[in-house]
Amino acid sequence: MDKFVVKGGVPLRGEIATGGAKNSALPALAATLLTDQPVNLQRIPRVRDVRTMQRLLVDIGASADVDGESVRIQVRVVRSPEAPYELVKTMRASSLVLGPLVARAGRARVSLPGGCAIGARPINLHLAGLEQLGAQIQQAHGYVEAVAPQGLRGATIRFERITVTGTEDLMMAAVLARGETVLQNAAREPEVTDLATLLGKMGAKIAGAGTSTIRIEGVEQLHGAEHSIIPDRIEAGTFLVAGAITAGDLTVTGCIPEHNAALINKLQAAGAEVTEVNTSTLRVRALTGLRSADVTTEEYPGFPTDLQAQYMALMTQAEGIAIINETIFENRFMHAQEMARMGANIRLEGHQAIVAGRKELTGAGVIASDLRASASLVLAALVARGETVIDRVYHIDRGYDKIEGKLAAVGAQIRRIE
Ligand code: EPZ
Repeated sequence: MDKFVVKGGVPLRGEIATGGAKNSALPALAATLLTDQPVNLQRIPRVRDVRTMQRLLVDIGASADVDGESVRIQVRVVRSPEAPYELVKTMRASSLVLGPLVARAGRARVSLPGGCAIGARPINLHLAGLEQLGAQIQQAHGYVEAVAPQGLRGATIRFERITVTGTEDLMMAAVLARGETVLQNAAREPEVTDLATLLGKMGAKIAGAGTSTIRIEGVEQLHGAEHSIIPDRIEAGTFLVAGAITAGDLTVTGCIPEHNAALINKLQAAGAEVTEVNTSTLRVRALTGLRSADVTTEEYPGFPTDLQAQYMALMTQAEGIAIINETIFENRFMHAQEMARMGANIRLEGHQAIVAGRKELTGAGVIASDLRASASLVLAALVARGETVIDRVYHIDRGYDKIEGKLAAVGAQIRRIE
């Protein structure tokens, strides 16, 4: 199991490039199931979850040609509309094939994702929406089976709570349904909008993506398309925090600044200087000491839950008390105990973490628990005195493409040991 060895204390300086968004690549890959024509996707990050999704599509019947960050997928025939447990247990986003498979093949058999480190993460809202579109759902032996022998028909679906992949799954199911579907209380994340852009290029009729109400007019069939995935706002945000926590001077390129507005506001409130160099470049500096600023995670355009752990690392270095409210997932503070081993002063009370700074961190042996928690431990290690060894970095490989290389190129003393 790979580890990272990090020696802290070096301010990061220079330019760091943002890759394509994992959470846009995954639904985009699932969308290729909706046509028998080839779909060419660019800026697909070379991360473990993407490789898992590609393998799942090939098992279903796709041909996949991968050339670096360009992927050409064609699903001429759906051979096996299934997502088996051994794949789904490693990546719960496999549930994104549910909607497209029912829409394309009239049936799907997908393993229930099971819990994960950060919470129960059920898919009940995905299933309720599919039923409203006319699918019959059965659950047995850890699998969910959805069938729609007469095809799907449009419906008005109101999500009882905002769900990102739920919105994406049902948007993909609705594009081939008969009639109009309205998704109410839909997720507004940029990745939802990016998926709608791809589906539109494939011939779907979608209006309102990026707002809480999305209207989809079903069509007979979709065709192939070419699409470049949006930049990964969570990777870009992770780098912005890295520049701030090390009191460096870091320029993050290839990003979309507005996608990080909530984080930028918080970094500025904490005393970091963040400037928009141009429409795809942000620069972060922390010339003076940082001060605490409270944060509550919310659905987009609020502060992203996927940056909460990274922000917690930053607040250990800020003067004062920061209250961090996690409202999206029920168990997303596991990084706190690991940071406490490095000397952080963090008290957990239910959905709240109270971070008392500024506390010097010292290098220690720590264990990554989930994708974003592992990124936050790297950030803490970058500012800790001495050496930190982070175990189970396979978590980080799920969502970051060679993060140690990118950070080392701007001065970080970080290396991977097999
Ligand atoms: C997406 O997960 C992201 N993953 C997550 O990123 C991200 O943390 C999350 O959205 C929130 O922004 C992908 O896009 C592949 P949700 P998703 O459905 O869609 C509850 C990362 O680090 N819920 O928006 O699974 C759920 O339990 C990952 O890249 C139901 O109750 O999240 C959660 O509390 C981690 N029933 C809340 O809603 C459902 O049917 C939001 O979940 C669906 C969700």
